[in-house]
Amino acid sequence: MDIEALERLIKSRRSIRKWKQDDVPDELLKKAVELATWAPNGGNFQGWRFIAVKNREIIRKMADAVQSVSDKIASQPEAMSWQEDMNRYRKNASFFRDAPVCIGVFSGAYQSPMDKVLVARESFDPEAREILGFRRFAPTAIQSASAAAATMLLALHQIGLGAIWLASPLLAKQEIETILNVPAEMGFVCLIAVGYPDESPQKDRKPIEQALKFVY
Ligand SMILES: Cc1cc2nc3c(=O)[nH]c(=O)nc-3n(C[C@H](O)[C@H](O)[C@H](O)COP(=O)(O)O)c2cc1C
Repeated sequence: MDIEALERLIKSRRSIRKWKQDDVPDELLKKAVELATWAPNGGNFQGWRFIAVKNREIIRKMADAVQSVSDKIASQPEAMSWQEDMNRYRKNASFFRDAPVCIGVFSGAYQSPMDKVLVARESFDPEAREILGFRRFAPTAIQSASAAAATMLLALHQIGLGAIWLASPLLAKQEIETILNVPAEMGFVCLIAVGYPDESPQKDRKPIEQALKFVY
């Protein structure tokens, strides 16, 4: 693949929020998840797990759980200051209920050898505590799961599927882990809703000069 083809693939992927109801073959989902596991990841620990849910009733339960928490938050007195945003968030909280497939991305904890030393010193060494704070700001396990999610979105797009990365279902993290019977040592990171696309949204990006700075 030349760089122009890669650029076309990357730039033509869009988050899809409307799907046809056609079944997505397991083999295609398996291929996208397998490619996702080739993403770079901390220590090549591969502590991620994926659950591809095609059962309508289970997807509905997850969507209801997210909608219920969203409605609750939006009806609290503090929400009055952001009423317009609240209405929009509530309206969009659970559109993934219409996706033919929802792939849950989960991660176990990851400790590098350095983290192990820092954790052992955390209770008495303020510097170790501070450095652990830096590590916890951007946990390696979450960076790794995110790399897999991004890779999966590209693979799904190349396959002809439409997907979206959803962080908002984290509002119902515990309910989703219970509904999917997730082992206690794994944590829910995000949901990827997938299906054959039934919309062609457009999005743009800010000029690269706003995002990139060279230091020579
Ligand atoms: C970490 C992350 C979390 C996201 N969470 C949501 C979400 O909860 N709800 C939603 O509608 N879109 C969500 N998105 C999709 C973004 O809105 C979308 O990627 C962004 O608007 C850019 O559009 P594009 O993906 O079509 O380029 C999320 C994307 C990322 C990477």
